[in-house]
Amino acid sequence: MALMSLRGFTQTSRWFRFSSVPAFKFHQTSLMGATVEQFEEAKNKLSTLKKDPGNALKLKIYALFKQATHGPCDTPKPGMLDFVNKAKWDSWKSLGSISQDEARKQYCNLIGSLVEAEGGSSAQEVSAQPAASGHVYNTLLVSTEDDITTIKLNRPAKKNAITTEMYEEIIDALQQAARDTCVLTVFTGAGDFYCSGNDLSNFTKIPEGGVEEMAKAGGDLLRRYVKAYIDFPKPLVAVVNGPAVGISVTILGMFDLVYATESATFHTPFSQLGQSPEGCSSYTYPRLMGPGKASEMLLFNKKLTAVQACQLGLVTEVFPDNSFQSEVWSRLRSYAKLPPNSLALSKQLIRSMEKEQLHAVNDAEVERLVERWTSDECFNAVMSFFQAKAKL
Ligand code: COA
Repeated sequence: MALMSLRGFTQTSRWFRFSSVPAFKFHQTSLMGATVEQFEEAKNKLSTLKKDPGNALKLKIYALFKQATHGPCDTPKPGMLDFVNKAKWDSWKSLGSISQDEARKQYCNLIGSLVEAEGGSSAQEVSAQPAASGHVYNTLLVSTEDDITTIKLNRPAKKNAITTEMYEEIIDALQQAARDTCVLTVFTGAGDFYCSGNDLSNFTKIPEGGVEEMAKAGGDLLRRYVKAYIDFPKPLVAVVNGPAVGISVTILGMFDLVYATESATFHTPFSQLGQSPEGCSSYTYPRLMGPGKASEMLLFNKKLTAVQACQLGLVTEVFPDNSFQSEVWSRLRSYAKLPPNSLALSKQLIRSMEKEQLHAVNDAEVERLVERWTSDECFNAVMSFFQAKAKL
């Protein structure tokens, strides 16, 4: 576990992934502070650096970014063995109560000096793919094209496992997409995996309040996460580009279309992990596929092929691997030309009858999981996962 974390510490790409920001003209940094535009510009420039500035500077950049966007550090101190997050937390905490404006200014100055040291001009115009909202995400690529908002999970090295930060960003991206002018919202994954589910290292970051506090915070986050799908007002499409595990599979019952590449698989190994189903699957799965087939998946960890998942109604259609992207996207582009209000209102009509029920199911599932996360069964299963990795 420690080795895995240290490896993450040296992966500069993860530190520098501030994606989906609009192109801005650079304005000279003022001595009084930095404008939001200058801050966005500095973030763009960070990803253009050719040389690794070293861990000390990367920690400083991280800390200033958090202080500028969030304010003073108010998150629980990571556990002793969680080296990477502990180092990041320490760096952020060390900024004390400096204002967000001051942090923005220091951030811009620091990036500016790094760019200049590489011989670049700090007054250069930089283009980047804009997110519809102009929001900046560390773990997602959010883009808008042809009236389609695409939310792409972007941790391919970790098979797009969902961290706490990523849950928050997905909630935010869904809320933004609900308000934008696009007709469809599409969910997909970067790399060869769709998603490997909950990042199991979420369970290793025990706050000072202990496992109970971690479980309660996890439960609150999960409730909000699933709620964002239940309440999503427009057609939601999953483009399942590879294997899918855990919550990325259970939540599929909330999607209006699920298109899968033929080599995708669908696996919900909850009992194996001492856990229980979420994403409203304890309700949607028996309705979709009947109680027996739902039990095979949710209780007995049966992994389905894409074709099997399609036969059971979890997947809408399966496409050959070699034409998956082209066929799916050309289909979606044509769907996105349909009248947007008619689509959204029809979707709401289809879902409205069971919305209240889904919220109640979400509450019940979260309550059960909060209990499971404090159980020995879950603790031992998570430890086994990381111990098996450490032996490799
Ligand atoms: N949580 C934390 N880390 C995960 C992860 C998860 N859910 N899924 C993958 N990773 C990490 C691996 O630890 C590995 O990290 P490392 O490179 O630092 O060692 C990296 O992602 C690549 O995964 P790896 O296991 O080497 O790839 P694989 O193709 O052999 O197997 C999976 C992929 C998804 C089958 C396997 O990683 C797995 O079983 N993950 C756990 C899935 C799970 O139980 N999810 C929760 C369901 S409730």
